[in-house]
Amino acid sequence: MCGIVGYVGANQAAPILLDGLSKLEYRGYDSAGIAVMTGDGIVVKKKQGRLATLSEMIDGGKAVKGTMGIGHTRWATHGEPSDTNSHPHLSNSGRFAVVHNGIIENYLKLREYLTKKGFEFMSETDTEVIAHLFEYYYKGDIIDAMINVINRVDGSYALGVLCADNPDSFIAVRKESPLIVGLGEGENFIASDIPAILSHTRKVYFLENNEIVFINKDEVKVFNTDREEVSKNVYEVDWDISAAEKGGYEHFMFKEIMEQPRAIADTVKPRIKDGRIVLDDISLTADYIRNINKVYIVACGSAYHVGVVGKYVIEQMVRIPVEVMVASEFRYCNPIADEHTLVVLISQSGETADTIAAMREAKRLGARTFAIVNAVGSCIAREADDVLYTWAGPEIAVATTKAYSTQLTAVYLMSIYFGQELGLISSAQLRRYIKALEDLPAKIEKLLENKGDIQYIASKYFNTKSVFFIGRTLDYAVALEGSLKLKEISYIHSEAYAAGELKHGTIALMEKGTVVVALCTVGNLFDKMLSNIKEVKARGAVVIAVAEEGRTEIEQEADHVIYVPKCDELTMPSEVVVPLQLFSYYVSSLKGLDIDKPRNLAKSVTVE
Ligand code: F6R
Repeated sequence: MCGIVGYVGANQAAPILLDGLSKLEYRGYDSAGIAVMTGDGIVVKKKQGRLATLSEMIDGGKAVKGTMGIGHTRWATHGEPSDTNSHPHLSNSGRFAVVHNGIIENYLKLREYLTKKGFEFMSETDTEVIAHLFEYYYKGDIIDAMINVINRVDGSYALGVLCADNPDSFIAVRKESPLIVGLGEGENFIASDIPAILSHTRKVYFLENNEIVFINKDEVKVFNTDREEVSKNVYEVDWDISAAEKGGYEHFMFKEIMEQPRAIADTVKPRIKDGRIVLDDISLTADYIRNINKVYIVACGSAYHVGVVGKYVIEQMVRIPVEVMVASEFRYCNPIADEHTLVVLISQSGETADTIAAMREAKRLGARTFAIVNAVGSCIAREADDVLYTWAGPEIAVATTKAYSTQLTAVYLMSIYFGQELGLISSAQLRRYIKALEDLPAKIEKLLENKGDIQYIASKYFNTKSVFFIGRTLDYAVALEGSLKLKEISYIHSEAYAAGELKHGTIALMEKGTVVVALCTVGNLFDKMLSNIKEVKARGAVVIAVAEEGRTEIEQEADHVIYVPKCDELTMPSEVVVPLQLFSYYVSSLKGLDIDKPRNLAKSVTVE
């Protein structure tokens, strides 16, 4: 979704803004723009299309003089992608320039109101009302104007605002949409995400809703809506800019696939001490866990698929009923929850609007919220009762891989922890599970070494029109993720089915050449999967099977077999997903598509 950067300092702002925006390209966008305070007032340059087009238009930023500015990449919500609808938007007098990420829900009413007051609208965006509201409320004090503006708008926003009367400072605010402040030496920044500022500073403020930031090159002041100054803790970013760069790989997605062993090890290692799972970061007591009447796992997209694995794992291990729900449904379905209900929210970004809303609904119902989050200091991490961080590091490719894998790991950790605290698993079982977790990175390394085999299979089928992923129980949960991965980056139609369900309708779609990826790693269901493979083969399907090493009998049924190392059933989903990620990656690459930034998608979905 939209990306914002802001800079004030001693250097020329425009190249810094363009560089910052380039680090936010992963979020998805369709146009880009900057506004810079120059000797002649605010100058806006904006353009539909890639950031490179804007950069070319202004000679990499050199053509726009000035040491303070704001920049934006837009992901269209209100009004088509166009130069006019691109941000920044100016007020009619040109005194205010605004960049915005989020949605102003009452913009139509405000637009009508402001039109009656004589304001003229240039664009179809919701954002433009903000520029005019600033003009309307401004009586010489920018902070007062900001307070009035945010009191007037409903919805979500991260805003960066330049005012021509303040040539050395600008103002920003956030509510429900991400925005951080970067604290430099003689220069300060705002940004939607850390990578945009990391080459300049590691010191950041995370902002709470409606905290207003007044920034000049030497000082950052934060106010609440009563205009009282708020003191903030400085957070020191502990990862390097190289973590958010391609580091020699052609695509972020590939780099992130390769980083999975490291990410899983980082998520597991600090949580294992003296042969036990230790979750220092959470405060759930054995008493609370014992009295849980139900667990909801609530998330979106791939994180939801982690929840489907979580249901199998938690129910098997600790026999607590688990319901997995898509966050956008949870909030509207009047869920049954009370203080004995644990609502687990899973989110890489911690900023997904639907998941945030679901978390708040859970809290309203009195449930306890437990978040599995990757982005430190994000909204969900701040608001949930407990947070179990995944240590995947920054994930830049839109299609998640390493964050998904670390979320799976966090779910295993949580589940084993529950079993351990409730005394439901024996010490032998505990040792077995811990070993499975510790062995996982090496097993994934081994799988990654065989990537050439997957590339070969992808080269045979990258032109196919449709792919079905089938599996049972845990394999079905991974099939959901394999299918999503393929469709989002290769644009090939694909569906995931519980293998036993095919014969209830979908098998009608099987014909000569239909590609079926059959996941056959659940030991006691292996024979059932062989039968399902026979069923689809009999209708002409081509079958790519994924099976545990040693199950060579599958070679008689499937056209291709991808073997994964033997491991505990608990951690098998973490292995199975890897060839599916690679398959999607290679298919997309062979089709020549934009792997890291697939069409229509955004990394962090901050609108409902
Ligand atoms: C798919 C993908 C999305 C996200 C979903 C939730 O590859 O990345 O489906 O998993 O948008 O995002 P987070 O985890 O940030 O809440």
